[in-house]
Amino acid sequence: MTETIFVGVAWPYANGRLHLGHVVGAMLAPDIFARFHRMRGSQVLMVSGSDTHGTPITLVADREGVSPAVIAERYHRFFLEDLHSLGISFDLFTHTETPTHHRVVQDMFLRLLERDYIYKATTTAPYDPVVSRFLPDRYVEGTCPHCGYTEARGDQCDNCGRVLDPADLIELHSRLSGAVPEFRETEHFYLRLSAFTSRLTSWVAPKTYWRPEVYGFATGLLREGLKDRPVTRDIEWGVPIPLPGYEQKRIYVWFDAFIGYLSASVEWAQNRGEPDAWKPFWESTEVRAYYFLGKDNIFFHTIMWPAVLMGYGGLVLPYDIPANQYMTMSGTKMSKSRGVVMPLHEYVPKYQADAVRYALTAMMPETHDTDLSHEDFVRLTNDEMVATYGNFVHRVLTFTKRHFDGIVPPLEGTNKLDQDTLDAIPATFADVGRQIARCQFRDSLRSVMQLAARGNRYLDECAPWHTIRSDRLRTGSTLHVCVQMIAALSTLMTPFLPFSSEQLRRQLGIEVKGTQPQWEIPRLSVGHQLGQPVPLFQKIVEDSGEESAR
Ligand code: MF3
Ligand code: ZN
Repeated sequence: MTETIFVGVAWPYANGRLHLGHVVGAMLAPDIFARFHRMRGSQVLMVSGSDTHGTPITLVADREGVSPAVIAERYHRFFLEDLHSLGISFDLFTHTETPTHHRVVQDMFLRLLERDYIYKATTTAPYDPVVSRFLPDRYVEGTCPHCGYTEARGDQCDNCGRVLDPADLIELHSRLSGAVPEFRETEHFYLRLSAFTSRLTSWVAPKTYWRPEVYGFATGLLREGLKDRPVTRDIEWGVPIPLPGYEQKRIYVWFDAFIGYLSASVEWAQNRGEPDAWKPFWESTEVRAYYFLGKDNIFFHTIMWPAVLMGYGGLVLPYDIPANQYMTMSGTKMSKSRGVVMPLHEYVPKYQADAVRYALTAMMPETHDTDLSHEDFVRLTNDEMVATYGNFVHRVLTFTKRHFDGIVPPLEGTNKLDQDTLDAIPATFADVGRQIARCQFRDSLRSVMQLAARGNRYLDECAPWHTIRSDRLRTGSTLHVCVQMIAALSTLMTPFLPFSSEQLRRQLGIEVKGTQPQWEIPRLSVGHQLGQPVPLFQKIVEDSGEESAR
């Protein structure tokens, strides 16, 4: 049964290099998910891009004394490199300065305005009397009235995830001058979120399959009732407001960015030369749309984006929003705006992409904040990925090479242990498939690893290195079972560890260049010639505080 699946991935701000926090928060899970569904033969469209607008970008540009476009272009180029290095398989990773994006955003803005879901109002906004300008979003900081976090920003608290108005903040101050801002009158466009409270409530209510944290967050906000939110800002960088008289203002970054899901789909279709190819992913009732993001984005994806889609009409609403919690590195949140970062371009070349993917999937913060220490990273790589999976594979393939010329021997006189071991293969396919489809990535990787561990136990129990001296037929049977396990692992691991899986298929002599395997049990026939065995991974060797991958 093939499905049509849209995979939206939160758009990282193009204001610094990608770090492990981005990857574990929003990028690895959708990649595993999309790879799996493609292997099953489903139609998948996975898009994202650089979020190039708003104060996250202008603050960095101010600091460097360059235009925001310079910052956005610089980091967009880095993002493309870094994503490629980790094997994140986007169908399109674009950015929000494309003409297509501007057009789609302005079209949505105008339709909502026409339907009175967007309206104009005069309001007051913080103004810095020292530098004589308005202070949108990240230009002001203060204490969150909900959770007491002292570095909450004008539009959102990073700690509790609530969206805020600058006037809500306690001890508000300007990040430009430190001054206490005045509130001055200004005119803005508002999204009439209050009009969607009941529609959203009935839409969310049956989504009991959402992660409890996501479901709880959304229902909690809906119970309180929604407030209208301004969707324009006094800023010079962003998508222009498509109406005369507003040249000094721009559309708010959080109104334009999520429209990127749609505009990127349109751009992807244009690039293919099939301008309507995006429609099956947005206009059909059959499509399932999944959005992957970190917990600070839950409000925008469970409330604001669905409201915009409802107001616009005719487009598919999210099916699931499996947001992740935060990952900390020995205690500090990984976020470039707050300091501790583990940039991809330092990690991936040093440790192998699949080792990074393994550790981050094994520790994915699906239900609660999770700390990953460097020791954890080394342990997961050496004691799990290398010891349980890599060594099993390598022991079997080198032994088969040495004693059977790398030719798959027959299975003769199947005993109960052989049979039970082989039976674990279809059972694992069923478990892993179900778990990935439900976005349970930690569990799904654990299920794959249980099969690898089972292979190791079987190998140790059968001890072919002993039996080879007395019973060649039995030894061959043992290896037959083991190589079937390994072939299965090469498919099962593909969504998680795409690089080493491809290498393993080559070593098994079943690689078809440039293609992914199907999600089905591969069978190596008796007499099949295996390829050259090479260790799939290297252990991390630490010497005197200096780590090196060797
Ligand atoms: N740039 C935002 C962030 O890093 C995420 C944008 S997601 C989108 O928090 F939905 F708006 F695209
Ligand atoms: Zn808070």
